[in-house]
Amino acid sequence: MGQVVLSGVTKRFDGLAAVDDLTLDVADREFLVLLGPSGCGKSTALRMIAGLEEIDEGTIWIGDRVVNDVEARDRDIAMVFQTYALYPHMTVAANIEFPLKARKVAPDERARLVTEAAETLGLSDLLDRRPAQLSGGQRQRVALARAIVRRPAVFLMDEPLSNLDAKLRVQTRAELVDLHRRLEATVIYVTHDQVEAMTMGSRIAILDQGVLQQVAPPQEVYERPANLFVARFIGNPPMNTMAGEVVQEGADVGVRLRGGTIPLPSGIAGVVRERDLAELIVGVRPEHVTMSADGFIEATVVVVESLGHERHVICDVAGPPFVIVRQSIDEQPPAEGDIVRLSTEADSLHVFEAETGERVDTDVPSGAAPT
Ligand SMILES: Nc1ncnc2c1ncn2[C@@H]1O[C@H](COP(=O)(O)OP(=O)(O)OP(=O)(O)O)[C@@H](O)[C@H]1O
Ligand SMILES: [Mg+2]
Repeated sequence: MGQVVLSGVTKRFDGLAAVDDLTLDVADREFLVLLGPSGCGKSTALRMIAGLEEIDEGTIWIGDRVVNDVEARDRDIAMVFQTYALYPHMTVAANIEFPLKARKVAPDERARLVTEAAETLGLSDLLDRRPAQLSGGQRQRVALARAIVRRPAVFLMDEPLSNLDAKLRVQTRAELVDLHRRLEATVIYVTHDQVEAMTMGSRIAILDQGVLQQVAPPQEVYERPANLFVARFIGNPPMNTMAGEVVQEGADVGVRLRGGTIPLPSGIAGVVRERDLAELIVGVRPEHVTMSADGFIEATVVVVESLGHERHVICDVAGPPFVIVRQSIDEQPPAEGDIVRLSTEADSLHVFEAETGERVDTDVPSGAAPT
């Protein structure tokens, strides 16, 4: 069983928490992506699961066993790193075979497993070469073959594609997802690349400064980010966010932003009223901003960027940051310098508390105190 559970796991370096009270439940055969900016604690979390880093607090289970005091080599895991660390003087076959030799697997069995792993990763014709005679992508596949050859229950991967060029990354990404399906193993995959996270993960766990921000399937993270950090981290171009004051007119609740006032949908308005929130941050993804004559907010077009398949209209709304509007290539582009009005559907709005950055319309029991 390849279930991995972390409960209240903390790691400190020089008194500072690199991973802070991390609780995470990774299902057997899941592909979970740990995502976050550089230094947020991804590798540290992974290394604690691997047994390469002592933990200061908390408990880690792999399968049904607490592994806090289990040596790395006895944890039934395999790790794949950014640097492939292949032995340069050994052939591809010998590199793949290495972990089996180290574990004293019988020669016949070793040969069979190496052949099988090489076939799985399309390396059968390269077994006699040395690493220097391979492309970067092929080397990465050898590293993967070496990891899968023991058939561990859990794979821990730390930015395994980041040394590959952009095109190869896209291809290898898909290969890895396919490999995961065939291996029927659990994968915990570390990356700072949100596209990798969105495309590969069955769920994404987002870390910031050692603290878990949200764990959810990619679409949910995109559509309902739990807080401002996640909202701004996921999405390219990033979500437009703007601070404003709550204004009430009778039953209507809106937010006064630079350039105009935007009405809040009734569900969010209810929470805002109930919690008596005065300052909010409103977010809208670039694909949900439209330019229309009856828009809520006035803006000046600064630059129109054409990306071939879509256009980004960068607008100035009385000061920074700019608002980005994603436009279909079939639409009529505005001219630079045009005054436009920006609009959005009410249900495309993401609303966060200014003070905490937390999403307002989470499932908070009514009457609960604001956190
Ligand atoms: N051995 C160590 N001694 C002291 N501090 C460390 C050590 N290892 C990591 N840290 C610190 O812990 C924090 C988390 O580091 P970690 O390597 O887990 O980040 P990361 O999310 O993997 O970043 P990156 O995307 O750059 O690889 C950082 O602030 C880092 O400087
Ligand atoms: Mg790292």
